[in-house]
Amino acid sequence: MKAAAIENSRSRREELGQFLTATPVANFMASLFGPLPQTVRLLDAGAGAGSLTAAFVSRCCEKRDGVRAIEAILYEVDSEILDSLVATMRDSERLCSGAGIRFSFTIHQTDFIHEMSPRIAGDLFDALPPQFDAAIANPPYRKISTDSAVRRALRSIGVESTNLYTGFIALIQRLLVPGGQLVGITPRSFCNGPYFRPFREDFLSHMELRRLHLFESRKAAFRDDSVLQENIIFHAVKGRNQPRELTISSSSGEQGGNITETVFPFADIVHPNDAEKFIHIPSTASHATAKETMDGLNSSLASLGVTVSTGRVVDFRLKDALRKVPEHGTVPLLYPCHFNGGAVHWPKLEARKPNAILDSAQTRPWLVPSGVYLLTKRFTSKEERRRLVACLFDPDEVKAEWVGFENHLNYFHANGHGLERTLAVGLYAFLNSTVVDQYFRRFSGHTQVNATDLRTLAYPDRDTLQAMGRDMKTLDLSQDEIDQLVTKHLHARR
Ligand SMILES: C[S@@+](CC[C@H](N)C(=O)[O-])C[C@H]1O[C@@H](n2cnc3c(N)ncnc32)[C@H](O)[C@@H]1O
Repeated sequence: MKAAAIENSRSRREELGQFLTATPVANFMASLFGPLPQTVRLLDAGAGAGSLTAAFVSRCCEKRDGVRAIEAILYEVDSEILDSLVATMRDSERLCSGAGIRFSFTIHQTDFIHEMSPRIAGDLFDALPPQFDAAIANPPYRKISTDSAVRRALRSIGVESTNLYTGFIALIQRLLVPGGQLVGITPRSFCNGPYFRPFREDFLSHMELRRLHLFESRKAAFRDDSVLQENIIFHAVKGRNQPRELTISSSSGEQGGNITETVFPFADIVHPNDAEKFIHIPSTASHATAKETMDGLNSSLASLGVTVSTGRVVDFRLKDALRKVPEHGTVPLLYPCHFNGGAVHWPKLEARKPNAILDSAQTRPWLVPSGVYLLTKRFTSKEERRRLVACLFDPDEVKAEWVGFENHLNYFHANGHGLERTLAVGLYAFLNSTVVDQYFRRFSGHTQVNATDLRTLAYPDRDTLQAMGRDMKTLDLSQDEIDQLVTKHLHARR
């Protein structure tokens, strides 16, 4: 093709939001459908050359899990691609007839949004919206301006959408029967973009998210090299509550490439109290890496001369000795509320918890001599980014001879005394790293972190931890900075 023609076809495709799905990706998408009814009414909106319907048909023919008939309804506006689409449907017809599945298809060369919106709105007496048991979609991606006809059509059915793709998904969702399934590939932007909040709210209140899949490379999913969006595949089911758990997977997108899968509590993906309804997607590849990294570590806490214990002050047993405001004869008492980033903020007079405990013969057995201690929370809230939250108790910042650690904390110590500083800071970096957090999540489904869990974890050797400690010039590093520092030292020890 001449340069001008290539440019022309590219801008045409951009206008149509046309990016065709590569066959391995289409097959993977089709494989995500759960059990289907005997007769499947399938919707493919923005069908392009039909690769998604073809993959769906192949899946049914190969799996032979009870599907007897497929009625495919396809929408595509581009007249130039229609011949390819019809040819693909003829192939699907042949495949089905070989597998004993009845196949019919109807191609509508109409604008899906303009066609469906009035039917869903109930504006057309004689044209009720069709209903589908399954939909497979790679909708067109293009921004839609506030005053466009598309935007107005969507608004007429209560859908506020800034991009064609979310408009398509919002419509598709409305056309599914209860229990109907949708597998889609779209840009990832809807997961946290502020403009997509109405879409997320609408989608998450009508669809149960079952699976999310990410590609490690941006370009892998498409037959076109100009796709710069990060894409995501999702499988969702109409009209159920959100699941307790959700599988997140990732792959390179190449045929035969490995797929890494991890199951997460749904509350980790969409935080229950998040008004924005962000969809957080932890990288599963890094989960696998986390396991690999942790498996390579062979020091135990005991071999480092370090012990972890649960805070010894059980406050309700020592009620009379507790003080809100520190006074003569008291020593600091620390609760999780005193965690402030990586350091301790004490006293915290505005907090509901006491700040001090009397230092007496009765309380002394529950106190520890001041020193450098590493503290971790035993209970983290679901909203917290990490399960493992460590903070450093620095005797230079909180001056006292003795100190009390309350029972909602774990503290790392050397035989009842403080730790050597660089070791403690190294442990601080290690325990606050994403690698440890992800490893921890692999085996712990709940938000509680017991001393036993921390005792059984594998640790880097003392030299490596101390090197990490020396490298931490301040505790106040971002997650990325901590991760880079920890990874650098874990790799250096190999
Ligand atoms: C991202 S492509 C995907 C094509 C195909 N589903 C695939 O996965 O290979 C989106 C398709 O939607 C078509 N399209 C764009 N706007 C449309 C509209 N309003 N109604 C129907 N189809 C549309 C484009 O022509 C393009 O073929």
